[in-house]
Amino acid sequence: MLLHVSASPSGSASHSRKAGQAFIAKFREIADIIITERDLSRRPPPYPDQTFVEASLMAAKERGTRELAALAYSETLIAELEAADLVVIDTPMHNFIVPSVLKTWVDYVVRPGRTFRNTPEGKRGLLSNRPVFIIIACGGSFSAPIGREQTDFLTPYLHYVLATVGLHDVFTLRLENLRRGTAAIEQAEAQATAWIIDQATRWQKRQHGGCRIL
Ligand SMILES: Cc1cc2nc3c(=O)[nH]c(=O)nc-3n(C[C@H](O)[C@H](O)[C@H](O)COP(=O)(O)O)c2cc1C
Repeated sequence: MLLHVSASPSGSASHSRKAGQAFIAKFREIADIIITERDLSRRPPPYPDQTFVEASLMAAKERGTRELAALAYSETLIAELEAADLVVIDTPMHNFIVPSVLKTWVDYVVRPGRTFRNTPEGKRGLLSNRPVFIIIACGGSFSAPIGREQTDFLTPYLHYVLATVGLHDVFTLRLENLRRGTAAIEQAEAQATAWIIDQATRWQKRQHGGCRIL
C-alpha cells in the first residue's frame, strides 16, 4: 500500500499536489499497488485538545474509555502509516515550514510509547523503516543567483520527525520559485518529472516492501 498524504489548500492549482499526483501515476505504472489517500486539506485534522494531550502522555494501562476515544483518530493515522509500504507526502511551504494541517498530522502520529520511546540515548522510533518521498512546493528560492532570501526549516523538520518514529529512508524534492512566473514553473515541473522517473527506477531496483513490481 502507498500512503499519500497531501496538505495544500490550493486544490487543482497546487504545484505540490500536481507533482504528488504525477508521482502516484508513475508508481501505478510500475507496481501493483493500492493507494490510501489522506488529504489533510480537504478533511483537516482537528487540533489536539486537552483530552488528547492527557491521554497521549499517560501510561497506556491507565487509559479509560474517554482517553481511548480521544486517541482513536491518532490510531487511525498511525495505522495508515504502519500499513504503508511507502509514503508520499506533498506539501506547500508555509512560512518556512509545513502548513498547520501537516503539523497537526505530525502531532497525532509522533506519540510517546506508541511510535517512539524515550531511552537514555534519546528518542527511538518504533515503526519499521520504509521509504518516504516528500515533495515540497515553495514560492521563493533558497540559493543563488536569485537570492539567499530565506531558510528552509521544513525539510530538516520533516526528516527529524520521521526519523523520530523510525522512518529513515526519506527522499526529498524541493520545488522552488513557483511564484516567479511561467518559466520558473516550467523549470520546476521538468525537475519534478525527472525526479519522479529517477525515484521510480531506484525503487523498482530495490523492490521495497510487499508490492508486486509490474
Ligand atoms: C501562508 C503562506 C505562506 C507562505 N510561505 C512561504 C515561504 O515561507 N517560503 C516560500 O518560498 N513560499 C511561501 N509561500 C508560497 C507557497 O509556498 C507557494 O505558493 C507554493 O506554490 C505553495 O504550494 P502549493 O502550490 O502546492 O499550494 C507561502 C504561501 C502562503 C499562502
